[in-house]
Amino acid sequence: MKEKIGIIGSGVVGQTLGKSFLKSGYEVKVGSRNPEKLKEWLDNVDNSNASIGTFEETASFADIIVIAVHGVDATHAIDLAGKDNFTGKIVIDVTNPLSEQKAGPPKLASTQENPLGKQIQDYIPDAKVVKAFNIVNCFIMVNPILEEGSPDMFIAGNDEGAKQWANDLILSWGWNACYDLGGIENSYWLEAFAMLWVVYGFKNNQWTHAFKLLHR
Ligand SMILES: NC(=O)c1ccc[n+]([C@@H]2O[C@H](COP(=O)([O-])OP(=O)(O)OC[C@H]3O[C@@H](n4cnc5c(N)ncnc54)[C@H](OP(=O)(O)O)[C@@H]3O)[C@@H](O)[C@H]2O)c1
Repeated sequence: MKEKIGIIGSGVVGQTLGKSFLKSGYEVKVGSRNPEKLKEWLDNVDNSNASIGTFEETASFADIIVIAVHGVDATHAIDLAGKDNFTGKIVIDVTNPLSEQKAGPPKLASTQENPLGKQIQDYIPDAKVVKAFNIVNCFIMVNPILEEGSPDMFIAGNDEGAKQWANDLILSWGWNACYDLGGIENSYWLEAFAMLWVVYGFKNNQWTHAFKLLHR
């Protein structure tokens, strides 16, 4: 029996990941402060294993929780979901801490000393947070088959078992490789890495790129 997946976040990322987890055979609940807004999503997926709910209902339902909200609102979303509902669970953090600008690309709103992935882990210390997927857009997260091949994913987190689960999921979704960057403090480099993706996208108005690590 596969784990129950709870996705805290009703945006394009939550909806896209939700659909992909369903396709992979998981039971999925997607959450919002206003679950009504997810009714259309529910009507458009194979919904025998899908449901929608509040952040709190989603977190308590789940064996594994994905956080896919505005990065700067992540801890508030956790409060709404109920911190106790995260205890002992794998938490996949796909958020980016972005501050929107009037023009041009957003700016990174985290620091090397205090990346958002670490802020989330510190906020729910009994959870097993893995930063993953944040370095590409959500359509590539779930379908990383590009004309020039399959790109690589990079993850960071403190719990080896949680990272193994994320690694297996990532490879099962078609990524070429999944590189472990170490502890959650290294989520900073993934948040900065996301900015490389964003800045390149803005400059070239091209949003289908991803990265690959090459060795000699
Ligand atoms: N778009 C991409 O392809 C992409 C790629 C990589 C990473 N990311 C990251 O993934 C995350 C989700 O992105 P997205 O574009 O799907 O959605 P988003 O617009 O960044 O976030 C939508 C979610 O944030 C929640 N939210 C907004 N304000 C909140 C607050 N004050 N308190 C609690 N929750 C709040 C919303 O709640 P309600 O449901 O109640 O409205 C909604 O569930 C972001 O951190 C983004 O940077 C996005």
